[in-house]
Amino acid sequence: MKNVKQLSVNAPAPTESLNTANVSNGTKGSSHEEYANIIISPSGNNIEVPASRSAVSDAEKLMHNLSGSPSMKHRRASRNSFGASLPIPAPRASPTGAYPRSLKEKVAAAKNMAFAFDIDGVLLHGNNLIPETSRVMELLNGDNELGIKIPYILLTNGGVPHPMQALSEYYETVLVVGGEGYTARFAAEAYGFRNVVVPKDIVAWDPSISPWRHFTEEERKEARPQDFDRVNFDAVLVFADSRDYATDMQIIMDLLTSVDGRLGTRSKDPIKTQLPIYFSHGDLIMPTEHKLGPRLTQGAFRIALEAQWKAITGGELERVVYGKPELATYKYADEVMRSWMKEIHNEHTIPENIYMIGDNPQSDIIGGNMYGWNTCLVRTGVFQGGDNDEENPANFGVFPTVLDAVQAAVAKELGHEFKLRWSDKVNPALHPESSLAAVE
Ligand code: G3P
Ligand code: MG
Repeated sequence: MKNVKQLSVNAPAPTESLNTANVSNGTKGSSHEEYANIIISPSGNNIEVPASRSAVSDAEKLMHNLSGSPSMKHRRASRNSFGASLPIPAPRASPTGAYPRSLKEKVAAAKNMAFAFDIDGVLLHGNNLIPETSRVMELLNGDNELGIKIPYILLTNGGVPHPMQALSEYYETVLVVGGEGYTARFAAEAYGFRNVVVPKDIVAWDPSISPWRHFTEEERKEARPQDFDRVNFDAVLVFADSRDYATDMQIIMDLLTSVDGRLGTRSKDPIKTQLPIYFSHGDLIMPTEHKLGPRLTQGAFRIALEAQWKAITGGELERVVYGKPELATYKYADEVMRSWMKEIHNEHTIPENIYMIGDNPQSDIIGGNMYGWNTCLVRTGVFQGGDNDEENPANFGVFPTVLDAVQAAVAKELGHEFKLRWSDKVNPALHPESSLAAVE
């Protein structure tokens, strides 16, 4: 795809691709809290956004957890200090297209809008392109009345969040979990992590650590066992979906409850000494080809770990979750959007009218709504509801496909008469006698 900025990784992703995230860390301290509150990276190479709270998701109360999930709907019931219900802000006002706009107005409006696309369930379904995607890309890449590019970014929870790279400066030895085969190792090494261990390395060292695991000779060949009796882990990073919940959960729990991240040890006070753990995203479900549609994904794995931690220690698992709907994801998106505006229009602004198009109310829509974006829910992914999602309604509406959403957004910002195809005949620069030129 051309004309696209991805909040992405340059490193190979374990299986899923790109994504973005938050979190910043600084000096290595003795507690998890210290990791989460320092802003500047020592090298200055990373775009880092400070976590608003240590080790706890910004959007925790809006995300799936064991005690239910409050939602945008519940937020609507909030009251201000005068005891009156707060009004729901209407989508930003803009001309409706009821009158023909001048060329100048159209250009200004085109430069003042942008799109943030979710990938899985909006542009792609599994490995297949959703048919309407191609036309959307053409339209935004300049196949429109003005021949103008309208910026867009991809905002996905699939893959390894780019800001997780920053953690490589603070953690020497990490357990990296998830993904097919050993791909997570390669992704982590490409990010600069120095001593990357995957669960299979540990199984190769001591198969009894996971009693039900059948370890094939093929897997063993590629494993890199070390003398883990002498290794101290600094953090656990969940990069992608686990392919072996039993083994991964056992090893993660062993490390979280260890003394100084050393396998085979048990902390007397695991709540106090808990090893830091990071998750690349919080989605509970993802779109699939299964007849029922969505299947459980990394959020389900995290919830299970949280429940295990609670059962074992009695405490709440301290963890950091990256990706949508975390606030830092959107701040990072702004930076990408800004650099894209500079490249396309040589302007240093962020468009005012941003449209998030997603398929998952619990991540795409909640996050976009909270960040003040226009939100569009499509029916090509996990959303299978009625007129709109009841808990987290998309403020710009629900559309059959991404193309319908983009056309509606363009009509709102540029006018209903705006033509969605380029044509020499309507180009006022080439045809000063055209009606558009007359308006000018
Ligand atoms: O839920 C994991 C992944 O499938 C989400 O991808 O592009 O929908 O954010 P995306
Ligand atoms: Mg999606």
